[in-house]
Amino acid sequence: MQTSIDVKLKEYDLSLLEKDYDRISVLIDDTKKLNRVCRRINKLTKGAVVRAINSDEYEKKSCGEVLSISFPGSITAKYIDLVKWVKPGQLHDARKAGVNLAKLAGDSSVLICIGSQKFSTEFILGYLLRQYKFSEYKTNKTNKTNKSRPATLMLNKTFGFKKSLEEIKATVDGVFFTRDLVNEPANILTTAEFSKRLQELSTVGVDVEVLEQKHLSDLGMNALLGVGQGSANPSKVVVMSWKGGSKSSQPLALVGKGVVFDTGGISLKPAGGMEDMTMDMGGAGVVAGTIFALAKRKAKANVVGLVGLVENMPSSTAQRPGDIVKSMKGETIEVINTDAEGRLVLSDVLWYAQERFKPRGIIDLATLTGAIIVGLGYEKAGVFSNNDSFCEAFMNAAALENEGAWRMPLDPAYDKKLKSRLADMKNVGGRDAGAITAAQFIQRFIKKDMPWIHLDIAGVAHTKSETTYAPSGATGWGVMSLNRLISDKFEDTNE
Ligand code: BES
Ligand code: MN
Ligand code: ZN
Repeated sequence: MQTSIDVKLKEYDLSLLEKDYDRISVLIDDTKKLNRVCRRINKLTKGAVVRAINSDEYEKKSCGEVLSISFPGSITAKYIDLVKWVKPGQLHDARKAGVNLAKLAGDSSVLICIGSQKFSTEFILGYLLRQYKFSEYKTNKTNKTNKSRPATLMLNKTFGFKKSLEEIKATVDGVFFTRDLVNEPANILTTAEFSKRLQELSTVGVDVEVLEQKHLSDLGMNALLGVGQGSANPSKVVVMSWKGGSKSSQPLALVGKGVVFDTGGISLKPAGGMEDMTMDMGGAGVVAGTIFALAKRKAKANVVGLVGLVENMPSSTAQRPGDIVKSMKGETIEVINTDAEGRLVLSDVLWYAQERFKPRGIIDLATLTGAIIVGLGYEKAGVFSNNDSFCEAFMNAAALENEGAWRMPLDPAYDKKLKSRLADMKNVGGRDAGAITAAQFIQRFIKKDMPWIHLDIAGVAHTKSETTYAPSGATGWGVMSLNRLISDKFEDTNE
C-alpha cells in the first residue's frame, strides 16, 4: 500500500538552510516583502532572491507558479524555489501551488519554508497528492518512489499544525489507496486479491466482512452472480464498517461497482481500448479509499462501504443475452446486453445495503456508462439524485474539493425505455440518454424516501492525461468530496 511521503515538521531555524537538501522552497506573497528566511537566502545568494522576484520572468508567473534559482551562491541546495503566493482566494489555489512544487521536486529532498501562511495546510495537501507515482511494475529501481526522502516543513510554529497534518495525510492515504487499486492490472487485482486488500483495513479499525458466492446465492443476489458466472474468479461482496459515531446513529452507506475487468461478456467489447477496463472497479476503489481516510482520521461518523466484486468474462458458463435473472429485490431482469453489467451488480448490493443497514442515506459510485463520457467528458462526474438537499450538500463538497461534478436529471419519462416484453425490466434502454436510463434502472432498487445519490464516474476515475492532483491513470476522484461531505454533514458533533 502506497502512503504519503513522510513530512518532518521543524520550527523556525535558519541553520536548516545550510543542510543538505536538494531544494529549498519559499513562499513569496504579493507584497514581495521578504521574511526572515528569504532575507537570509537573499544574503547567501548575493541578492539573487530580490533580483528574481523583480524580474520579468517572475512578473509573468501567475499565482501558485514557481520560479527556481539554480545552483545558488553559497547554498548547498541545488535550487531555490520561489513560489508566487498571491494571497489565494480559494483553497484550491494553494493546493495548485503545492502541486506545481511537487512536479518540480520529484523524488528530491525538499525543505519547504512556509512561515505562517494562511492555507499552508492546503499547500501541503497539493504537494503530497501530486507526489503519487505508480511504478509497481517498473523493474528499474530508480523509477520507484524514493520513500527515504521526506519533505521537511519549516514553520514559525509547529504547534497546532501537527493535527492538521495528520488529517491531510489521512486524506492523501485514502486517495492513494483508491489510485493504487484502480491502477492495478486485472491479473493481479482479482476479486480474491481485492477482498484481501480490503481486509487489511481492519488494521486501522474497520470491520471487514467478505460475503462469498454461496452466501450471495442464499441471499438471492442473482443479478450480481449472473455477471460473474463466466469468470474463474469467484464473485464477492465486501462490507466495510467504520463505526466512529454514536451507537444509535444510522450509518451512511457507500456502494461501489467493483468489476475487476469488463470484457463486456458475451456482448464482447471491441479490442481497441479494452485494456482500460481494468479500471471498471473504480467505484469500489473510491468506497474503499474513503473508508480508509475516515478510519485514519477517526471520523466521528458511522459509514458502511459495500462493494460488489465480479469479473465480466465470456465463456461457456457466461450469462447470455436474453437470460432472465431474479434480483435480490425479487424483480426480474432481462439481460439484453451483458455489457450493461454494472447496474446488475449495483442493483443487488444496493438492495442488500438498505435491507441490512437501514442507512440514513446511500451514495453509489460506478464507472457505469460510456454515455456519461459523451455528455461530460473527463472533467465532471454525472450526479443523479432523488433528494435535493442531500445532492446539494454533495455538490458543495465537490466544489470545495475541486472535483468536477454535474447534476443530471432523473425522470419517470425515461422509464419506458426499460420495459421488457418478458421480465419486469430489461437492463438497457438504448443509446440515447444512456447515462440517465442507467440511473433510472438503479433507482428501481432504491426504497421509497431513501435519500440517494448516484455518481457515474466513468469519465473521471481514470484519465489518459494528468489532472490537477494526479499523474495520468487513476485519479482517486471522489475520496476528497465524500470525506468532506461526511465531515460536514454526517459527523456527531456532541463529544
Ligand atoms: N464499464 C462500462 C462503462 C465504461 C465505459 C466505463 C468507458 C469507463 C469507460 C460499462 O459496463 C459498459 O460497458 N456500459 C455500456 C452500457 C451499454 C451496453 C448500455 C456502455 O456504456 O457502452
Ligand atoms: Mn460493461
Ligand atoms: Zn462495466
